[in-house]
Amino acid sequence: MAILDILHFPDPRLRTKAKPVKEVDDKIRNLIKDMFETMYHEEGVGLAATQVDVHQRVIVIDISKGGNKPQHFINPEIISTEGIFVREEKEGCLSVPETNAEIPRFQKIKIRALNNKNETFELEVDATSGKEQALLAVCIQHEMDHLEGKLFIDYLSPLKRQRIKDKLKKQQREKA
Ligand code: NI
Repeated sequence: MAILDILHFPDPRLRTKAKPVKEVDDKIRNLIKDMFETMYHEEGVGLAATQVDVHQRVIVIDISKGGNKPQHFINPEIISTEGIFVREEKEGCLSVPETNAEIPRFQKIKIRALNNKNETFELEVDATSGKEQALLAVCIQHEMDHLEGKLFIDYLSPLKRQRIKDKLKKQQREKA
């Protein structure tokens, strides 16, 4: 296993649209393991392959904070949605450090994906049925956006996004 480097906004590679996984093989299984290790190391609740510069449709999530509820999705697709909500707690992203924002998301989603055994499964998440489900609903949509090259700050106004960009660029310069 390995901890992978995470790309940070405004890295243009974060804008890459990920390709579907053609075959669920050991390479993909190892990628998932490394993504979990990276996500836990960075204390995130979700990670998309795009963020580690692998442009295949894979996401990992663990909303438990204790690292005991790992969930992974290969080639995830949203097959139905219902309603819109904004979660009380603001959204953040490992690729956009120190930035949080309220983002409207679908309240109820049904998704279909493959697991690491190449089995298709479906999952329904309803944000109205509790805090954990609300976080999971947001997290799935957030990570799936990454696979499209989309970031949560894209939902904000261009002015706000520019301010975030300036702030992060300044920080990156200071670190370099
Ligand atoms: Ni993110």
